[in-house]
Amino acid sequence: ALVSMRELLDHAAVNGYGIPAFNVNNLEQVQAVMSAADEVGAPVILQASAGARKYAGEPFIKHLIQAAIESYPHIPLVMHQDHGQNPGVCQGAINLGFSSVMMDGSLEGDGKTIASFEYNVDVTRKVVDMAHAVGVTVEGELGCLGSLETMKGDKEDGHGTDATMTREQMLTNPEQAAEFVKRTQLDALAIAIGTSHGAYKFSRQPTGDILAIDRVMEIHARLPNTHLVMHGSSSVPQAYLATINQYGGKMKETYGVPVAEIQKAIQYGVRKINIDTDIRLAMTAAVRQFLFENPDKFDARDWLKPAREAAKQLCKQRYLEFGCEGQA
Ligand code: G3H
Ligand code: 13P
Ligand code: NA
Ligand code: ZN
Repeated sequence: ALVSMRELLDHAAVNGYGIPAFNVNNLEQVQAVMSAADEVGAPVILQASAGARKYAGEPFIKHLIQAAIESYPHIPLVMHQDHGQNPGVCQGAINLGFSSVMMDGSLEGDGKTIASFEYNVDVTRKVVDMAHAVGVTVEGELGCLGSLETMKGDKEDGHGTDATMTREQMLTNPEQAAEFVKRTQLDALAIAIGTSHGAYKFSRQPTGDILAIDRVMEIHARLPNTHLVMHGSSSVPQAYLATINQYGGKMKETYGVPVAEIQKAIQYGVRKINIDTDIRLAMTAAVRQFLFENPDKFDARDWLKPAREAAKQLCKQRYLEFGCEGQA
């Protein structure tokens, strides 16, 4: 059944686990997440970016998620707008039936310019007013996602800034976070702790100097009732890269966020963990391998099946690693 994100994250907070929020764009990804959740008894957050709504088309995104609810009525499910760039995008999502929206006011409406604190408070507060009036949960973002290796913001996926910043400019400031939550009254807060979107996060396995997991603790101490969200949380498994490159792909060496670091973040208070890239890598590796090994096949179902299965295994693994088993 469709539930608000507040309800799911409150349960996760009381019981000390984290919920992966998977980005979905099409039928096979929705099916992969749902069958993984069903097998382990996990609650589900399906999130659609503006790009997903555009790729699938609004009625398709809406009805794919409705179909997930219809097919798995016993699973509590949140339908979440990922990275709404302005209140209009969030309003559109609410009209479509989403039970949760993210107003990302860390960047201005162009998605490129670093926003002022006042701008961020203003747009986020607007969305909270309209969302809470109809029982919809709101996620906001404070700080600038980006790599502490390059000191650059994250522009990998076309909706960030590549401005060079200082460490303190990038990371979420705990005191400012407290003021932000007080003034906006949002439910969940995405924080910047050194992760970035996309496959190219780190040029080596990250250690404490380029991934500020400890900051979760400081922010959580000030905001015990606000659910913390980690974006850019793909782990970029090396096995996927190896398979992709073995079967004709050309991806550069790269590292993601180790699962052990995410587990630490969950202990420190993170409740929602955003994952998109790992599903992309899992599906691409499976398709490349399948088509290489079966060059005579041309039925799309033949290669979509292993892609869907690979996505499912990834989702199942993250549900287990984040403590979701049996929580639905
Ligand atoms: O935050 C970005 C998500 O990975 C969604 O990416 O905008 O390409 O759909 P997208
Ligand atoms: P990844 O690119 O690390 O999967 O992050 C996805 C994300 O944060 C979506 O909002
Ligand atoms: Na989000
Ligand atoms: Zn994100």
